[in-house]
Amino acid sequence: MHLLMLLLLLLLLGPCLSYLPRQNMENEQLVDNLSKTLQMILRQTCWAYNMSIFISTSYKDQLPLNEQRLVESVLTRSFIPVVPWVLDKQLNEQLGLRTQMLLFFVQNANQLITACDRNPRMNKAHKYKFLVIMIAAQDDSAWQHSQMSQIFAYFLHYRYNVHALLLLAQLEAGTVSAFTYYPYSGLGICGSTQALPVLLHQGRIEQTYPRKLQNLNGCPLHVIVWQILPYMRLHMERTQPNDRISGIDAEILKLLANKLNFSLVLVVNEPAHLIGGSSFMNGTMTGAFYMLQQRQANLTLGFAACMAARYKYLSSTLPYSQVEYVLVMRKARPYSVYEVMLLPFDSHVWLLILVLTTLRLMCWESGWRRVPLLNLTWNLLIFLLRISYESSIFMFVHNAPSRPLPHSLEQALAQDYHFITDHVTYRMTTLLPALRARTRILPGQPVDMFEQLLSQPEHHRVAIISNLNFVVDYLARRGEDPHRFVIASNKIIENMICVHFPKGSYLTSNFNHMLFLMRSSGIGQHINNRLKSSHLATTLITRLNPLQHSSDNVAQFNESMRLIYAALNCLMFAQSVTLAIFILELCSRRVRNRWLSRILERL
Ligand SMILES: *[C@@H]1O[C@H](CO)[C@@H](O)[C@H](O)[C@H]1NC(C)=O
Ligand SMILES: *[C@@H]1O[C@H](CO)[C@@H](O)[C@H](O)[C@H]1NC(C)=O
Ligand SMILES: *[C@@H]1O[C@H](CO)[C@@H](O)[C@H](O)[C@H]1NC(C)=O
Ligand SMILES: *[C@@H]1O[C@H](CO)[C@@H](O)[C@H](O)[C@H]1NC(C)=O
Ligand SMILES: *[C@@H]1O[C@H](CO)[C@@H](O)[C@H](O)[C@H]1NC(C)=O
Ligand SMILES: *[C@@H]1O[C@H](CO)[C@@H](O)[C@H](O)[C@H]1NC(C)=O
Repeated sequence: MHLLMLLLLLLLLGPCLSYLPRQNMENEQLVDNLSKTLQMILRQTCWAYNMSIFISTSYKDQLPLNEQRLVESVLTRSFIPVVPWVLDKQLNEQLGLRTQMLLFFVQNANQLITACDRNPRMNKAHKYKFLVIMIAAQDDSAWQHSQMSQIFAYFLHYRYNVHALLLLAQLEAGTVSAFTYYPYSGLGICGSTQALPVLLHQGRIEQTYPRKLQNLNGCPLHVIVWQILPYMRLHMERTQPNDRISGIDAEILKLLANKLNFSLVLVVNEPAHLIGGSSFMNGTMTGAFYMLQQRQANLTLGFAACMAARYKYLSSTLPYSQVEYVLVMRKARPYSVYEVMLLPFDSHVWLLILVLTTLRLMCWESGWRRVPLLNLTWNLLIFLLRISYESSIFMFVHNAPSRPLPHSLEQALAQDYHFITDHVTYRMTTLLPALRARTRILPGQPVDMFEQLLSQPEHHRVAIISNLNFVVDYLARRGEDPHRFVIASNKIIENMICVHFPKGSYLTSNFNHMLFLMRSSGIGQHINNRLKSSHLATTLITRLNPLQHSSDNVAQFNESMRLIYAALNCLMFAQSVTLAIFILELCSRRVRNRWLSRILERL
């Protein structure tokens, strides 16, 4: 559909351009030079990379008549049918995303800003390449440079775009020269918008739009940081910016600074104690995210979750790390001796025994005591009960189990657990209303929650929602026994962490690329492993719920049970023999079976 529209425009545009009145212009020289340069760029940059061009027609309002003619003859001559063009004052949204280059003909900085402002950013991820052709009527070099510098300043500060190429067309001299700006060249001040000449050579993309952000040449970037252990630890009293932060994300930040060659200027979150900040879909933000919205800093890195609102109102990289949240509980309480004594039978068995005892007492009283069959049955039953009771106790003592703990969130909810979290983690529970309803927020850092958990009354069923790095950090710092905590094996939620920038920042894709390289080479994981004592983590993971018997225990248990079953079988055999003889005796008492009683008597 859109392609069709482009083609249609192309078809309409073709005849239009060729029927333009040909002018005998005194500045034929300039038209010639300019259309050659433009054609070269169109061929080598646009056609080679399948770029579509938008040509702003604002020049019709802005330029004097003879310069308008000049522009039109330049366009007629440099027109290449294979490059799709759109000619308009304002780029509509659907074509906007399919257009890669914006071309403007202006006389000075003000005209460019007016024409550009009509074409707002399509979205922050879509960065146009700007091609500005400045037709300079004045031959004053200082004036030209100040205009160009103003244009570049507009691109740097308002459009957040470093892909700008300016062709300076000198009306009198008839020459064309190309300029761009290098905000981080390391030659002058950082953020410089000074116009520097470009050698176009063949006009390929690496010559027209050179990469400018690969090396930030030691320029300072303002990074908002806050304390969140063990990801970011602040030591603001130290003098060197690199010593002022430590932790998993701090290492990642330092590595980025090293790779992209920028220096760190740490900005403390406002208010200072706030962990990150919040962001809502209506655009309301607090803390670090508000500061980014106000462009008070260049980026923030430090356990900041990727969120829809942040993607919408700020610029974010893709996730560079992934954090799993799990339930952390206190070690299960063991059973008391009395519970062990009662435990082998559950309440139904105890009830059955009670009923049977009553029944037997009743039988006894009502004079049935002399019925040997009942007596025998009763004795057998008692024997069976004793065997099973003893074997259960044996199994219990052998395996020393403790109360079962939940494995998953569903089990925890079913067992009526309550949860505690800090306010940062609480945000993760938005998607789980059942969890949220039972969660209490306590003040402090995520790592402080373990202290809170240990201080809860012993019999309360409480768990915290936390991640392994928090647990390991707490245990390592406190030197606590890792066996005090048990981690439910099923994760509850997963959290992605991103680096955030002010909306539309040109640094985003650069950082994204570097983080991707770091992630794919496993550096993040390496930092993670180096900082947390990884053996501690593995002991924690492998030691989950103690009620799970190891296969070894099961084998031992089966062996013991086989012995008991063997004893039982022998006894049952003996009892059946006795029973058979008894029945035979009973039958022989009958008159008809005299032959039987004779046999028995002989026996
Ligand atoms: C341009 O498009 C053509 C055809 O669609 C494709 O073969 C070519 O690889 C593209 N070139 C670039 C640089 O994307
Ligand atoms: C423009 O044309 C003139 C005369 O042909 C030439 O001297 C000059 O170098 C050209 N300038 C550019 C930038 O091509
Ligand atoms: C990083 O920037 C500094 C300061 O401009 C410069 O001296 C150094 O050569 C740069 N390092 C690299 C690897 O480019
Ligand atoms: C945005 O939403 C949040 C929470 O839903 C609310 O507290 C805040 O007042 C809203 N802001 C505006 C400007 O509506
Ligand atoms: C970085 O932040 C400082 C202070 O807010 C600002 O002056 C500068 O222009 C920003 N640089 C970038 C690349 O955003
Ligand atoms: C019932 O069995 C007990 C032994 O458990 C025995 O002492 C008692 O005499 C028996 N009663 C009858 C009536 O067989």
